[in-house]
Amino acid sequence: MHYFRYINDKLCCEGVSVYSLARRFGTPLYVYSQATLVTHYQKLQSALAPVEHLICFSVKANSNLSVLRLLASLGSGFDVVSGGELQRVLAAGGEPSKCVFAGVGKTEAEIEFALKRGIYCFNVESEPELERINRVAARLRKTAPVAVRVNPNVAAATHAKITTGTYTTKFGIPFEEIESVYARAAKLKHVRLRGVQMHIGSQITTVEPFEEAVRKTVPLVQSLKEKYGIEFFSVGGGMGIVYESALASGSPRWWEGPAGKDLLTPTRYASRLVPLLKPLGLRIIVEPGRLVVGNAGILVTRVEYVKRIGSKNFVIVDAGMNDLIRPTLYDAYHEILPVVRKRNATFCADVVGPICESGDFFCKDRVLPKVEQGDYLAIMSAGAYGFVMASNYNSRPLPAELLVNGNRVAVVRERQRVSALWEDEKLAPWLK
Ligand code: LLP
Repeated sequence: MHYFRYINDKLCCEGVSVYSLARRFGTPLYVYSQATLVTHYQKLQSALAPVEHLICFSVKANSNLSVLRLLASLGSGFDVVSGGELQRVLAAGGEPSKCVFAGVGKTEAEIEFALKRGIYCFNVESEPELERINRVAARLRKTAPVAVRVNPNVAAATHAKITTGTYTTKFGIPFEEIESVYARAAKLKHVRLRGVQMHIGSQITTVEPFEEAVRKTVPLVQSLKEKYGIEFFSVGGGMGIVYESALASGSPRWWEGPAGKDLLTPTRYASRLVPLLKPLGLRIIVEPGRLVVGNAGILVTRVEYVKRIGSKNFVIVDAGMNDLIRPTLYDAYHEILPVVRKRNATFCADVVGPICESGDFFCKDRVLPKVEQGDYLAIMSAGAYGFVMASNYNSRPLPAELLVNGNRVAVVRERQRVSALWEDEKLAPWLK
């Protein structure tokens, strides 16, 4: 389920009309539904209740301070991949003792900062990184909690750019080498082996790849527990969401998804994984990003022009690939809905932005309700990897972000001022 609905032909986010938000705050505009976010978090929380667990929200998916604060208030931990993300979490009131720090390229400064703040664990991606963490910890006279990321070499059917669980990617340490890496790590004086981690990819929409990876890894984890007394197993994130909500065609049935598909829900995920994980007697960590926030956000945009070239229609909107890069980067599908439904004729069109690149599109050759200049469109399921991947390309300021809670609306990020774009730039002295 999600809390975007048509009420009298007006798209609403919870109790608020998206049209009124677009008029009041301008476009392009990200709008998040608090109830959707909370519901997804809680569904996962209760599905995993049979095992001792910690949800570490993957900050890279959406790092707005209000989103992080909301999740922290629900008890969430956080999966961070940079010093910047850790600082955001702290600024939002998250607890460092519930943070895991992942990523293949941690710098000395980042390691030092995380160690001083007392994070729960470093998820280590290579032996040189283990040695670096040990060195930094020794200098600070500390012991660094670590988990090594095992690459289980399991292929998941997802886009090549978001596959991580096979040996053709830079992530983790091959399954076969893990025992010997733990044996060497155990000799390092300033690291403590606290757990083991894995992550096989993102937007995985069936449970089988997760099951296969867990089945393969459980005996290894058991053996590491016996030898080194590790306390947790993180199975990573990657739970996929439904991008085709069927809202356009009638009643929303997001949670069941399009007919005939065996969708990945928190319940299905947990019902297949918990029986495999429970006998380990370890704390289970999950690192969902998209599952929690993906369907909780939309990008609202205004139609600037409708243009016809030969037999093709182009709807030119005021959002661009700099605001939401997923369609062009991953060939990602995002449903596009009229903010006010007119029930008029349809036409086939590309929805494109104003950026000077032919890759600046949100959809191609899609049947859409006929729109005109000044109409608003909602690009759905943009809550994860939307705003966080936005850039200033073409000197376009970053969009505003709103959080809706029932009938209440808060600006959780102001639209960037254009002058802020060159605030940190300086004229070379010889040009003054
Ligand atoms: N844990 C690790 C170690 C990860 O690398 C990731 C995502 C996650 C957790 C969270 O994955 P999620 O639950 O959100 O699938 N920008 C791409 C997705 C990149 C995912 C990177 N790693 C997109 O827009 O599809």
